Amino acid sequence: MSANLSLPQPGLGTFRLQDDVVIASVSSALELGYRHIDTASFYNNEEAVGKAIAASDVERESLFVTTKVWHEHLAGDGVIESVKASLQRLGLEYLDLVLIHWPSPHDEVPMEHYIAKLNETREAGLTRHIGISNFTMAQVDRALACPGGEHIITNQIEVHPFLANKALVEHCQSKGLTVTGYMPLAVGKVMQEPVLQEIADRYQATAAQVALAWVAQRNIVVIPSSTKSSHQKANLEALELQLSDADMQAINSLDCDDRIANPDFAPSWD
Ligand SMILES: NC(=O)c1ccc[n+]([C@@H]2O[C@H](COP(=O)([O-])OP(=O)(O)OC[C@H]3O[C@@H](n4cnc5c(N)ncnc54)[C@H](OP(=O)(O)O)[C@@H]3O)[C@@H](O)[C@H]2O)c1
Repeated sequence: MSANLSLPQPGLGTFRLQDDVVIASVSSALELGYRHIDTASFYNNEEAVGKAIAASDVERESLFVTTKVWHEHLAGDGVIESVKASLQRLGLEYLDLVLIHWPSPHDEVPMEHYIAKLNETREAGLTRHIGISNFTMAQVDRALACPGGEHIITNQIEVHPFLANKALVEHCQSKGLTVTGYMPLAVGKVMQEPVLQEIADRYQATAAQVALAWVAQRNIVVIPSSTKSSHQKANLEALELQLSDADMQAINSLDCDDRIANPDFAPSWD
């Protein structure tokens, strides 16, 4: 774990991956040395992720497992029940991190309620850490001011060369939060980008590796997903690339606010 990041770098994403595909993906990643796995109750794959973890030789203490609570489970004791159900499906005794997957749409459930409940899961030992995902700057400030909110360690948000999310990233980091960047490869779109390709050629790397290096060099934890061992290995090796300031700037200029994860219940983005 890097000195100033509160999550291991990198993590392995598991969105969309199901059954044997996710079992193979997590197993291969653990063999390659990944120690941080990102899942969610919404992904409908916690049982399979748990099977891969159980089958691996990696000790539980060396692993960092994140799951998320869906926004339909924020009222009443929904957060606590959701975390307990995730633990059961994963076959784990504790989580390393539980995130609120999306803020409650239109504030239907007050943030003060579900952040306090999230912190209760930490106090009860169901998770070591708590965090948020898809929170805007104003929502980050409000979450941190909620009772229990001082324990939030990360905001997991979309970050890739076409959505630099600069203001939100800097805001979170200025508040002492680690930013976790999801969809760092823009779900495959980075591979077709000529500027990334040209930079990659000079580093004898791939466009995907350059995109990951650019996110990581901004002090952001990356969680790419891959079903291929060769890609997982390349993604690990990407973090050894040191991009020059000029190359970082060139990639900064690809930002076009091109957001991929934008459901109708999303907050009003910064
Ligand atoms: N909090 C949230 O709301 C939220 C939303 C979305 C995602 N997430 C998390 O973020 C994770 C990452 O996002 P994502 O999985 O949607 O997209 P992503 O990681 O940006 O892209 C995954 C795609 O890139 C390909 N890929 C991976 N490594 C590659 C490489 N080295 N070279 C070429 N292609 C490569 C994969 O194909 P192959 O399988 O062929 O390698 C896959 O199609 C998710 O899995 C999930 O855990 C969170």
